[in-house]
Amino acid sequence: MAKELRIGMIGYGFMGRAHSNAYKRLNDFFDVKHTPVLKVACARKPDELQAFADRWGYERTETDWRKVVEADDVDLIDICVPNNLHRDIAIRAAEAGKMICCEKPLAVNVAEAEEMTRAVEKSGVPNMVWYNYRRVPAIALAKQIVDEGRIGRPFHYRATYLQDWTINEKVPQGGAALWRLDINAAGSGVTGDLLAHSIDSAMWLNGPITRVVARTETFVKEREHIDTGKVEPVGIDDACMFLAEFANGSIGTFESTRYARGRKNYNTFELNGVDGSVFFDLEDPENLSFFEYTQQQSGEKTEDHLTGWRKIHASNPEHPYMDKYWVPGTTIGYEHTFLNALADFVAGVENGTSSQPDFHNALQTQKVCDAVIDSANTGNWMETKVEI
Ligand SMILES: NC(=O)c1ccc[n+]([C@@H]2O[C@H](COP(=O)([O-])OP(=O)(O)OC[C@H]3O[C@@H](n4cnc5c(N)ncnc54)[C@H](O)[C@@H]3O)[C@@H](O)[C@H]2O)c1
Repeated sequence: MAKELRIGMIGYGFMGRAHSNAYKRLNDFFDVKHTPVLKVACARKPDELQAFADRWGYERTETDWRKVVEADDVDLIDICVPNNLHRDIAIRAAEAGKMICCEKPLAVNVAEAEEMTRAVEKSGVPNMVWYNYRRVPAIALAKQIVDEGRIGRPFHYRATYLQDWTINEKVPQGGAALWRLDINAAGSGVTGDLLAHSIDSAMWLNGPITRVVARTETFVKEREHIDTGKVEPVGIDDACMFLAEFANGSIGTFESTRYARGRKNYNTFELNGVDGSVFFDLEDPENLSFFEYTQQQSGEKTEDHLTGWRKIHASNPEHPYMDKYWVPGTTIGYEHTFLNALADFVAGVENGTSSQPDFHNALQTQKVCDAVIDSANTGNWMETKVEI
């Protein structure tokens, strides 16, 4: 008989919706023993909260997250609020013995992320951070190709994460979604919001980043703050570029901005090794590009005229997660990456393994983010202190 997994959802914005969808669809696609129950939704504005709860089917609402964390009828706390609120909720949830799924970045800085990691490790509660791009089938296929040794010795990692929605100086800071422009709520700008994803993917595919040197820029120096109505200094990085050294000897470049006119969510990476390369672009999400270098033995007929990149449509049942969905050649969407992550988390709870990235793993990404910001502020190369 299915066991209930009673959800306490904190936040009803972009991620509150994406995760609610995942809880509702889990048992439709995945054979797990738990059935999510949307028990309580929490946010501060009662009317909007009630509308969210009614639409998605939450049993009740609560405006104080502490009551959700301490509720006897909640098993899992899902943290979908701005970054500066992650720490307190996660620590209280861990102390209350709840499972925790927390949005990324884990925290606003390493000190908070370390506290949170200590708290979940002390209480032993299952925990996960929603770096959902690992669950894009084409990216998971890239991981499989790397693990199979098909790239060989890696030389270069190249990541971009480009958007264009803050170019207008009239866009305010603070409030729904726009808390990203408020340093106090976000902790950093594109580094924690966008590059954290790129760093998580990079270290998953290519191992630890050991050293970075960065340059950031804030193009619009002042913006109106929604909370105060006053024009206030902007403290976040609008753009960030950094060079990275990986523990495996390869080197990387990372670039992110919200000022790349025309780019909406241009999240790409390329890994080049001695035996091959992989390339991915989130705006072409079902495809992975793969180049395989095969050296001809002397005397064998060469087929250099057939050498080229392969575009693999990651939609066959052999591709990660795709046996759970439709027939070959059909696709899944952005929302399914959260469903895939949730399925891995629940399977981990059931078989006693930690689904990655957990808090400890996301702490390593936080260390790189902090080193990037420190480097931009000092102009120096910074060691990341990522645990290898
Ligand atoms: N994994 C991803 O790809 C991804 C994408 C977007 C956002 N995120 C992360 O998800 C988190 C939330 O981002 P979002 O885009 O959903 O933001 P959002 O602005 O759309 O929603 C934030 C929610 O938090 C609620 N909230 C704010 N303060 C609160 C409080 N004190 N108590 C209870 N609720 C409160 C708001 O009412 C709102 O419902 C952030 O950490 C962000 O970095 C991750």
